[in-house]
Amino acid sequence: MKLFEPGTLGSLELPNRIVKSAMSEAVCTADGRVTDAMLRMYSRWARGGAGLLITGLAYVQPDGRENLSDLGVSDDIHIEGLRALAEAVHHHGSRIAVQLNHSGGQCFADRIESKPVGPSARRNWAMNVKCRALDEPEILRLITDFGDAAYRAQQAGIDAVQVHAAHGWLVNQFLTPRTNKRRDAWGGSTENRARFMLAIIAEIHRRCGPDYPVLVKLNIDDGGPLRGGIDLKLGIAYARLLDQAGVAALEVSGGTGESYFGLYTCRGDLPVEPSRRMLDKDGRLFAKALKPFIRPLRAAIHPKTRLVEHYWEHAATHVRAACSIPIMLVGGIRRRSEMERVLADGVADYISLGRPLVRQPGLPRLLAAGATDTDSEAQCVSCNRCLVEVGMGAPLKCHYKPQHHAASLRAV
Ligand SMILES: Cc1cc2nc3c(=O)[nH]c(=O)nc-3n(C[C@H](O)[C@H](O)[C@H](O)COP(=O)(O)O)c2cc1C
Repeated sequence: MKLFEPGTLGSLELPNRIVKSAMSEAVCTADGRVTDAMLRMYSRWARGGAGLLITGLAYVQPDGRENLSDLGVSDDIHIEGLRALAEAVHHHGSRIAVQLNHSGGQCFADRIESKPVGPSARRNWAMNVKCRALDEPEILRLITDFGDAAYRAQQAGIDAVQVHAAHGWLVNQFLTPRTNKRRDAWGGSTENRARFMLAIIAEIHRRCGPDYPVLVKLNIDDGGPLRGGIDLKLGIAYARLLDQAGVAALEVSGGTGESYFGLYTCRGDLPVEPSRRMLDKDGRLFAKALKPFIRPLRAAIHPKTRLVEHYWEHAATHVRAACSIPIMLVGGIRRRSEMERVLADGVADYISLGRPLVRQPGLPRLLAAGATDTDSEAQCVSCNRCLVEVGMGAPLKCHYKPQHHAASLRAV
């Protein structure tokens, strides 16, 4: 299998094996509609040559948003903008999937109208947010809302949806023993904790038809330092259930907001100055108390969160051995030779890139043009400024400056 060989995800044909991984764009209107800035962003990525573009997390209920400028799929008012988005991407020959999400108990409480919810009542220590437990009618309502959202995407000409079951958001909260302490049909055993995710997939299939491709981004490892998260064994058990459920592809990932502030997911640097600004902006006592500790914290977590190339490959290898779902490998993939090797070894069927495409939206075309050895390495240095800035609600873009990086490397 080669990087620029066409691929299929169920009924969906893709021009090549490069996927733009989901990244919050933070450029939509306050009611979740697509803007011209979003259309420009996606036209650039489509022109850049990635075969499939997955949007950043798009909320299925307004109170499931992360940012106030996130994409919405919770209402029919969103369909028109989604249609324009699909057309803009198709115009350049790429395909597009919308990532369906609800933040649950991992949210900024001041950005939503109601009390945060989760499978069980608990405090999220990274966000310093306490959520209440969902009751059964609310869970059933959420499942319907995921199905409705997928149907809207399909009506708008979006090629596929990706259910976000990773990174500490609501579906992941149901899957994780640490956050799901329920003793009813929605918790207590692997099958019960998976019930919410599987019911969402079944509902999407029911609403959109069995041929509409449903992708899933799944945590195979929630990461430390808290105990009781998903580990490799449990992650593989969930992957097997997804295989039986007929999902079109699995994007293998890990980490939550509570595992090293999201940096287990996005390995690389913890940028000190933007993180301080984020804490300043936050205004809560908790944030103020944390501010003097950013530098020591950064040094302490560095061994767990520093960039290692293709850091989910080990997990993907185990998933590959356990089930037959097409796999997208994400996380720290930076060199063309490694992309080709991962595909040739059969570890994954697709190469999913996040931050490298923020810095170089045209990277896939560069690679396709047979760029020289030096050009074929992504220029992204994983400084993670894009991540922290988006967390503060700023539009997604590359904030890298060489002087930042030199200073930050000296400090670690
Ligand atoms: C600014 C930013 C926003 C992100 N937003 C999302 C998101 O909305 N949904 C998601 O599943 N992952 C999100 N991620 C994680 C990426 O999809 C990807 O898994 C991660 O960056 C690792 O891949 P990379 O090393 O190629 O960047 C985000 C990452 C960044 C840097």
